[in-house]
Amino acid sequence: MLSRRRFLQTSIAAAGLVGVLPRAVAAAGPVTLTAEPMSFLLPGCTGPSPLWGYNATWPLELRLRRGQPFEAVLKNALPEQTAIHWHGIRLPFPMDGVPYFSQQPVEPGQSFHYAFTPPDPGTFFFHPHCDTVTQLGRGLAGVLVVEDPRDAGLFDREQTIVLKDWRVAKDGSFEEFTTDAGAARAGTFGRLRTANGMAAPVITVRPGTRLRLRVLNIDNTRIPMLGLRGAEQAVVIATDGNACEPFPVDGWRIGPAMRADIGVVMPATEGAEAFLEDIWSSKPHLLAKIVTRGEAVKRDGAQPALRLPPPELPEPDLKNADSLQFTLLAGHADSPQINEWAKENGFGADDLCLTRQVFWSINRQAWPGMGPGLKADPLFTLKSGRSYIAEIFNGTPHTHPMHLHGHTFRVIASTEEDVRSHWCDTVLVRPNERVKIAFVGGRPGDWMFHCHIIEHQETGMMGYLRVA
Ligand code: C2O
Ligand code: CU
Repeated sequence: MLSRRRFLQTSIAAAGLVGVLPRAVAAAGPVTLTAEPMSFLLPGCTGPSPLWGYNATWPLELRLRRGQPFEAVLKNALPEQTAIHWHGIRLPFPMDGVPYFSQQPVEPGQSFHYAFTPPDPGTFFFHPHCDTVTQLGRGLAGVLVVEDPRDAGLFDREQTIVLKDWRVAKDGSFEEFTTDAGAARAGTFGRLRTANGMAAPVITVRPGTRLRLRVLNIDNTRIPMLGLRGAEQAVVIATDGNACEPFPVDGWRIGPAMRADIGVVMPATEGAEAFLEDIWSSKPHLLAKIVTRGEAVKRDGAQPALRLPPPELPEPDLKNADSLQFTLLAGHADSPQINEWAKENGFGADDLCLTRQVFWSINRQAWPGMGPGLKADPLFTLKSGRSYIAEIFNGTPHTHPMHLHGHTFRVIASTEEDVRSHWCDTVLVRPNERVKIAFVGGRPGDWMFHCHIIEHQETGMMGYLRVA
């Protein structure tokens, strides 16, 4: 049997790619995920950075097949409490990883056993859900790919690309992860931009390769606008891991926590180059480069379209749906004075899940945070199995990637653009925009609904939907 380290090396070698992610395969038994400090040399830094990661591997990628039961034991080797939220997975509520909500926080030295079977294939990730601005800021996250046996053979290669910026100084030390000025506006941006922890990695493939890119934005703050030039074809084939009607990559924005699977056909000539870029600003930022080398991939006959088999998700009944309304605002009407509340109720200054400063609200409620005995009221109470159309109105001057736990929803309309109906778990809502999403009430539980710009989440823009 290969040791895991050997296995990692072999799989990197076999893939023949530069800038490939280290990867672990989740076998039948439970995977151990040790959340721990690690040191990592980020590009352009003179010394290593004190990252937090799982299994001292950054970024760690787990792979499963659809229908395969998954078990993970989180061991907390960090100096503070943590938990794992499995972002985008429709799982039973006790597995959702929200401290004080779906489970007790995992204190240093403790562990927690997660077990569930992901019902949907796709590109997912996992991360903590408390003091997230620091924990995710230090890198604590991993990729979870759920493979779909139905799309086997559609691509010659695949490559995961994890986008993350770092609040890092030249010497590798971290700068403060949040600032009031950032938290109250678009967020506090990192200085260093990376893909898989590298500056613009090069992916080498054979000419003519049909390549699947699984792009994940795990940054706390930035909303890139993707562009891909130089390929023969480049289309978005899945949004947040869910297959969609393919559409051109250029101009597609992915906010924090959002994923885009991209189907690429490289030119059949050697030395061809394609560029994955953030084209949001006038000067595009190179995220990763794909080059062709070696002998061309042999093809016989017509090739299938770059299209994934359709998702198998509960389809909301739009005619008989109940409507919900969410209004996102800056400031708030009646937020509790958390610091006072904390003092009165015996919380210390280091209680990590409390909202210390409030800049944002949903339906005029600012999220107070979580703690033993502290629980805000739900934004709405829903029925499992009932259909809902939720309108999200953004009355703030900033864009918010809004995420709902435990559900995959359909984006059906926007006041600002013609929406191609697609499935996702996180949707961008721009200033003044009203976005409509539709979904079927999922499993019973208290499912968080929040902005995934982590500083917004932690300064009021969070709530939850109770499914009864
Ligand atoms: Cu990716 Cu509530 O989170
Ligand atoms: Cu936000």
